[in-house]
Amino acid sequence: VDGPQHIAIVMDGNGRWAKKRLLPRNMGHKQGVEALRRTVEGCIAFKVKYLSVYVFSTENWKRPAEEVGFLMALLKDLIKKEVQKLHKQAVKVRFLGDLTALDVDINEGISWAEDLTQSNTALQLNLMVNYGSKMELVKAAKQLQDSNQPISEEALSGALFTAGIPDPDILIRTGGDHRLSNFLLWQAAYSELFFLDMLWPDFTQDTLKNVIDAFHKRERRFGGLNG
Ligand code: IPE
Ligand code: IPE
Ligand code: MG
Repeated sequence: VDGPQHIAIVMDGNGRWAKKRLLPRNMGHKQGVEALRRTVEGCIAFKVKYLSVYVFSTENWKRPAEEVGFLMALLKDLIKKEVQKLHKQAVKVRFLGDLTALDVDINEGISWAEDLTQSNTALQLNLMVNYGSKMELVKAAKQLQDSNQPISEEALSGALFTAGIPDPDILIRTGGDHRLSNFLLWQAAYSELFFLDMLWPDFTQDTLKNVIDAFHKRERRFGGLNG
């Protein structure tokens, strides 16, 4: 059987991880970056080609300004401190979402990171920032309308942020909630869903391996009958 080509993750539970330890929520976000680093390395080891992670949703602006500010600073820091390392590991980094709402300095960091890593082929890491599926679909529909393109599944797929990227084989959500929270609604039409009770900062390469093993035991029928 072929391994999963594309894994998508809703990295949820950072705040609760911190709360359990009587730490400020932001410390959970910091630990979340460590879990992401482990996951990237796991994906390289398991020869996964695309990893898409939900970093900040179009709805997350509703959080207190202090937390939003911390998350944006953390993102800036991640670009500064992690991208060189990712580049050495031949990871191609992409940022998907409405980036116009982000500060100019973050946008500069994003352009630098995407340019630096654009030819890398070990793994494509999609960092979904100010991403929401509904916004993405509306933007795509407008793009087709404005260019007078006939509407088709291919045309719509090609107008999403994820254009050219195969749909996720696996979609994981940590943190115990069983919902998508506006993540990849179109792209996850046939993804195998894994809802894990563990909090994102506790996610390890073993967790990833267990999910991939379980994925191989699932029967994907895509509406057909088993062969
Ligand atoms: C997910 O962790 C990270 C982001 C949404 C940025 P949360 O911050 O949602 O953590 P919980 O769900 O409150 O524990
Ligand atoms: C989803 O988590 C968004 C990210 C992980 C970036 P949320 O914590 O925002 O989701 P809800 O609010 O529980 O649905
Ligand atoms: Mg949450």
